[in-house]
Amino acid sequence: MSELASLFAEHFTQLRQRYDAILAETQYDALQVYSGHTAVAFLDDRHYPFKINPHFNALLPASEAYAQSWVIYQPGHTPKAFIYLPDDYWHSYPPIGNDVWTDHFDVHVVTDLADMASVIACEGRVATIGELDSRHAQWPTGDINPELLLHRLHWHRAIKSPFEIACLAEANCIAARAHAAAATAFRDGESEFGIHIAYCKAAGQSEDVLPYDNLICINEHGAVLHYSRREHDVDSPRRSFLIDAGASYRGYCSDITRTYAASNGLFADVIAALDALQLEIVDKVRDGTAYLDLHRSTHAGICRILVDHGVFTCHAEEAFAKGLSETFFPHGLGHFLGLQVHDIGGQQTAYEGGRTPPPAEYPALRTTREIRQGQVLTIEPGIYFIDSLLAKLHASVHANLVDWQVVEFLRPYGGIRIEDDVVVTDGAPRNLSREAFAGLN
Ligand code: GLY
Ligand code: MN
Ligand code: MN
Repeated sequence: MSELASLFAEHFTQLRQRYDAILAETQYDALQVYSGHTAVAFLDDRHYPFKINPHFNALLPASEAYAQSWVIYQPGHTPKAFIYLPDDYWHSYPPIGNDVWTDHFDVHVVTDLADMASVIACEGRVATIGELDSRHAQWPTGDINPELLLHRLHWHRAIKSPFEIACLAEANCIAARAHAAAATAFRDGESEFGIHIAYCKAAGQSEDVLPYDNLICINEHGAVLHYSRREHDVDSPRRSFLIDAGASYRGYCSDITRTYAASNGLFADVIAALDALQLEIVDKVRDGTAYLDLHRSTHAGICRILVDHGVFTCHAEEAFAKGLSETFFPHGLGHFLGLQVHDIGGQQTAYEGGRTPPPAEYPALRTTREIRQGQVLTIEPGIYFIDSLLAKLHASVHANLVDWQVVEFLRPYGGIRIEDDVVVTDGAPRNLSREAFAGLN
């Protein structure tokens, strides 16, 4: 048995115990999980890329996604997989080979959707998880997406098994290889579009498989947090390059950002300082820590960097107390990572549900939950020169605490983000992204 197959066997045993307990608590006899279907463009017959239901993916992490397929889970029975593989000469479908999951399921191929409703039907009290629509109106779905069940599953999904961490590590290795190709393409003078193509080629993944739109930002575009336009023109001069791009492996995501300066100087120095701060914060990712405390420490660190590099004219403590860094770092420090790039459950209060919102000063923070062993988180501090936010600071009572000439100098560089994927252990954190880059050498 391959190492991944034995990790999956161990993972699936634990997963089944977890599902058994949750179904008992919520008094369901069976769970039906629908993988989902592709949406069709308005007034058209073209489909959007297929995005799988993460609850299906959690049970059945195949290397390719099966649409319109079902997992039937009943405690005490081998889980069943009904995979839709029609005899269809218009489209192609991923075949079912021997894979890590296949020995753990009763696998059935369904070639005609008209049969699916009857084959999935279960006895007793049933819950269904998935994005259903009018085509399922007459199906034996039982309760659809009951919150009591979802909250419990989401709470557990934050804690990754060794199998899941192996998948996330592989997603990081694929992305690191592609990041290296993208950095070379930037140095070779490629456009944003050309860099994107170089990335996809090196990753062996196209947009439908990548976990999110690649963000390929040259110069000022780095100031747009989710810039995904990808210009074909090559601007000159090229000052900076920010790339936020991941990869997926069996549905598990990586989410990595690197920023490069075209030449030495102040912007390169700020990148180096932010990189050092990011590593400091990663080292604080420890069991029992509050993510919010890390977010606050990051703001304090960014204030120090902006004082040291001449952006703030006051002391770092004063800049922090006055919230000046919020202009330059307006997003959250990071988020849970797993089958979704912004994995579910980062603000969940308890196993039974509830939401803990971030404090008013940090509305974009996605993670308010205590850090626990087995979680995988991104740590992604940034420093950006965003026109609209700078204008507000310039018009505020704190404008005199900023050296606007330094800001003007840095503004054409756009911004900096350094993002790694980090596993919480019982000791020092494991940085999957740095590990993957180190493995390239
Ligand atoms: N790539 C999106 C994010 O970093 O959250
Ligand atoms: Mn991220
Ligand atoms: Mn990212």
